[in-house]
Amino acid sequence: MQKMLNVALPKGRLGEKVYDMFEKAGFECPSIKENNRKLIFENPEKSVRYFWVKPSDVAIYVERGVADVGVAGKDILLEYTPDVYELLDLNIGKCDMAVAGKKGFVDDRNKTLTVATKFTKIAKSYYSAQGRDIDIIHLNGSIELAPILGLSDVIVDIVETGTTLKENDLEVIEKFQPISARLIANKSNFKFKSKLIEQILADLSKQIGKKDD
Ligand code: PRP
Repeated sequence: MQKMLNVALPKGRLGEKVYDMFEKAGFECPSIKENNRKLIFENPEKSVRYFWVKPSDVAIYVERGVADVGVAGKDILLEYTPDVYELLDLNIGKCDMAVAGKKGFVDDRNKTLTVATKFTKIAKSYYSAQGRDIDIIHLNGSIELAPILGLSDVIVDIVETGTTLKENDLEVIEKFQPISARLIANKSNFKFKSKLIEQILADLSKQIGKKDD
């Protein structure tokens, strides 16, 4: 029986871009372009099956092996450190992890800094490298509200265009970690399906203008 490559795609605009790259690499699955609410699409002729997954969950599917490969942001890989292979920087979904606060905010180093974020681990390691005492407030979204309402002094969050900060009278204090989408693979499935995965890796590398060795 032909081996199937199971691919976890991050649902949304980034995932659509990623699918187009996989399609160009010869793993097309036309039914995925039909606009419906299905989550699984399969093309047995090309030995490929795609799942639409919440972007922050892609690494879980890959780590557990129900997906052989997937595409996850570097932010998620740094925050959750899943036990997967990081095969390739796809050079898309680019943004930065940054500290931001109200315009003109000045850090008083004699006081504990309160930091609101979805990215607890990333924020802790950023501040511990500076020996700065912080109090983390973990939020799940709309992080920008925290300094405006006085819930925190600053936020650690993703900045892409900067529009969200600007429209809420906040500003970047420091961008400290560039983020982009990465191709990841399950470690044991990689051995079992190495031919298929190497093939896709070589083609995607070519597409983003890198050497495919
Ligand atoms: C992310 C991030 C910022 C925004 C940055 O939020 O948390 O809020 O995008 O983008 P910008 O610099 O282009 O404005 P997301 O849309 O993922 O929603 P969230 O509120 O659930 O984090």
